[in-house]
Amino acid sequence: MRVLLVGGGGREHAIAEAIARSRKSPELYVAMSKKNPGIAHLCKDFLLVKETDPAVVDFAVKNMIELAVIGPEAPLAAGIPDLLWDAGIPVVGPRKLAAQIEFDKAWTRNFMKKYGIAGLPKFRVFRKGAGGSNEFIDELGDVVVKPAGLTGGKGVRVMGDHFNLEGAKAYAREVLNNDDLVVEERLIGEEFTVQAFVDGSTLAFAPAVQDHKRAYEGDKGPNTGGMGSYNDSKDILPFMRKSDYTDARKIMTEAVRAIRKETGVPYQGILYGQFMAMGNGISVIEFNARFGDPEAMNVLPLLDNDFLDVCQGIVTGTLGRVAFKKQATVCKYAVPSGYPDNPVKDSPVQIGDTGDALLFYSSVYEKDNKVYTTGSRALAVLGMADTIGEAEKRAEDGLCGLKGSLYSRHDIGTDALILKRVLHMEELRKDH
Ligand code: AMP
Ligand code: GLY
Repeated sequence: MRVLLVGGGGREHAIAEAIARSRKSPELYVAMSKKNPGIAHLCKDFLLVKETDPAVVDFAVKNMIELAVIGPEAPLAAGIPDLLWDAGIPVVGPRKLAAQIEFDKAWTRNFMKKYGIAGLPKFRVFRKGAGGSNEFIDELGDVVVKPAGLTGGKGVRVMGDHFNLEGAKAYAREVLNNDDLVVEERLIGEEFTVQAFVDGSTLAFAPAVQDHKRAYEGDKGPNTGGMGSYNDSKDILPFMRKSDYTDARKIMTEAVRAIRKETGVPYQGILYGQFMAMGNGISVIEFNARFGDPEAMNVLPLLDNDFLDVCQGIVTGTLGRVAFKKQATVCKYAVPSGYPDNPVKDSPVQIGDTGDALLFYSSVYEKDNKVYTTGSRALAVLGMADTIGEAEKRAEDGLCGLKGSLYSRHDIGTDALILKRVLHMEELRKDH
């Protein structure tokens, strides 16, 4: 089977590995913006191109692609799936109208309200250049300020961590100069992610994962694309209740149904729900129209089905049962020193023995047989085992094999950090 993958980061390396494992004798073609050595090694041919460029479609047609898989959000927002479908190529990744659920946070909050989808925080949308946000910020008192459009995970600012009431107002004004704005109440709890394969109506869910957005240990520092993530050997995480997971599944299922009603387009691809577990249930932080990065690296290696069978199910609307191995995983990113605000770029990294950990190449490039950082998250290691603790040790062994001007969050997946999350939730649930 001739398959096109769009994207060249760590998430896409995990997708490429899942494609390469297929029994359908895949021939993999990749469109990526820079040469990811891990992906280049797995594919028959690649094109270095901006992932939103319609040249991606010409590359697919020329290579007689039978199935396309889109990794990142930018090509979804640019409507690359629509162009591929129009060229007769089935795509895992929603069409532009359906992908709005990720690339327009204002649209999504209004959509949730219109269809009565549960887990909606108090919010208000302000159109570019509009006034009135100060009054609403005062009314809520404790807010999160979000540009409506895509910001690579770095545009959202949360009160308390990043600023006070006056800072929130100033940032809201700054956002309104360039974009629509969403102001919403700050949710307090523990975050988790649920990812699902979606064929337009049926959803098949992966186990819950927790990412770590903050740059430094102890959840300190600026927000990043995600420093690492873990899952347990069951569907839920240690701090979650079963109902948190079943409620998340219900919300995602309703969202898929409502998207079809609202846009007339079936949602075919991956749906990512990010939730806040709180004392009295869960709320929706956001939806993404793709796998998470790093969360794809947790769940794809656990997939029991042939990934290309699942993809076929998605594009033909015949998704069947999907199963995941009952194992825990811990993923840790090695990122350039100074990331995210002032990262070292074009700095060489040496990749040695990563032990039992899987290695994923992310934002690095290869030149003259050497690997260099780009300034974004560089390499990820994944430990897999029966328990989170064991998987964490494997991930740490993996990090020992990486040398260069890099740092990681060594606290991800440790007993101490997980206990902190469990105690936090116990505290929040006490009053309910
Ligand atoms: P997003 O880009 O929407 O995923 O937001 C980035 C991060 O901001 C999330 O991972 C959360 O940590 C935080 N965040 C977003 N919305 C809220 C909210 N309503 N309450 C608390 N934290 C939030
Ligand atoms: N890890 C967060 C994201 O992929 O959006």
